Amino acid sequence: MPISLDYTNMMKDAIGPDSGVQDEELAELSVQTKAIHQRIQNRRDAGELPFFDLPNDQAMITEVLTLAKEIQEQFDNLVVLGIGGSALGTTAVFNALCYGHNLKDKEQRRGLPRLFVLDNVDPDGFSVHLDLCDPAQTCFLVISKSGTTVETTSQFLVVRRWLEDAVGDTYRKHFVLITDPKNGVLRELADREGYRSCSIPAGVGGRFSIFTPVGLLPLACVGVDIRQLLNGASEFSEYLCHDDLKTNPAYLNAALQYLAYQKGLTISVLMPYSDRLRDLSDWFRQLWAESLGKKFGTDGSLRNVGPTPVNALGTTDQHSQVQLYMEGPFDKVVTFVALDSFDRDLPLPSYEASPQMSYLAGHSLGELIGVEQQATAAALTRNGRSNCTIRLPGVTPETVGALLLLFQVQTLFAGYLFDVDPLDQPGVEEGKLFTYALMGRQGYDEKVAEFKSIQARLESRILSSG
Ligand code: PA5
Repeated sequence: MPISLDYTNMMKDAIGPDSGVQDEELAELSVQTKAIHQRIQNRRDAGELPFFDLPNDQAMITEVLTLAKEIQEQFDNLVVLGIGGSALGTTAVFNALCYGHNLKDKEQRRGLPRLFVLDNVDPDGFSVHLDLCDPAQTCFLVISKSGTTVETTSQFLVVRRWLEDAVGDTYRKHFVLITDPKNGVLRELADREGYRSCSIPAGVGGRFSIFTPVGLLPLACVGVDIRQLLNGASEFSEYLCHDDLKTNPAYLNAALQYLAYQKGLTISVLMPYSDRLRDLSDWFRQLWAESLGKKFGTDGSLRNVGPTPVNALGTTDQHSQVQLYMEGPFDKVVTFVALDSFDRDLPLPSYEASPQMSYLAGHSLGELIGVEQQATAAALTRNGRSNCTIRLPGVTPETVGALLLLFQVQTLFAGYLFDVDPLDQPGVEEGKLFTYALMGRQGYDEKVAEFKSIQARLESRILSSG
């Protein structure tokens, strides 16, 4: 198995009975696991969980590679307009596999375009990125499964005008719309106005869409070997698609996190010791939070359940958050992601003028970051703090593909344990409706009235200084 999960420090033997998981508890969940696995299999057979099988969709891979080649030949810049699941996976894999790409000159980038993922509607941030791009040399991927997301729609409107002003009627050639195969405004526009487009396969939700054109197209354009990425996921899937809790790392990690949650460890920290894997935590944070944070259980009962994901980066956050993890409330599980090897390593040379530094000579930065992860894990354990380590041989397309699938299956299985629907996100809708109302969208008058009545009920408490 290319990925290992060391959960020694989550167990009672290591951290004591209050926070530690007991073998008996895992054994009990083994029985439930078989039933849940069967339900997952049934849903897969019924075509309700298509994300599992995306890594083997050869037609989609060919379509993406063909389009990527066209884009590479025509443009110097590629900009993703999309948010949430339409953006976070691309950023995570881009930084993992093309670290520093945008800082390189064109020759160092082998002529490949720069990639910017613009998910926010902050006018300052958006303008600065547009300023960096020559409109004639820039392609925009407008990514939205629903086709209605207000942030992505607004970005599209701004960019369409910006391009039209610069390149005239040919502006449509600068867009690729990635959306639902049949429904939504973007699909309508693609069909009617002749924009190039790609489909997000039906039944694949945003945060489970990294292995669709949502992630694959931008990544292929900047030179990621998407076949290797998908092969990594596909080959690893054999470890994830069986019902033995002890040997299925996705099910096991979900079960451990679930049992820890029951013991009051409601915060899950993901802490890779790798700059290249830093943004993986952002992607996972959305996956874990949106999938598991739910008001109602599958039977409609009130639950208000869900672990809170937190991001950290080793070693950086040893100097910011680890004090809290070590001595603060017993409410966290820390999951480290550690590497066996780095693509490059830097030896630590000696410096005779400073004997105090001599202990470092002969070691390397790669060794130091590995030792610091082990030291932090040991110190947490000594303090009775739950932690586990996911270990990869290195950061490659194959290991990243495997890790992405591992986390997706883990999240799905955790949804069943928490007894919530991991594929919906009703809580996000509420805020969206008020936004539509306040932006004057037709048909939202009642929401405007509701918003005003909430405001009227509250006594305003604002402290203004200066
Ligand atoms: O996981 C999800 O479904 C969400 O985070 C969506 O990706 C996000 O809200 C954007 O939606 P859309 O792709 O419809 O624009």
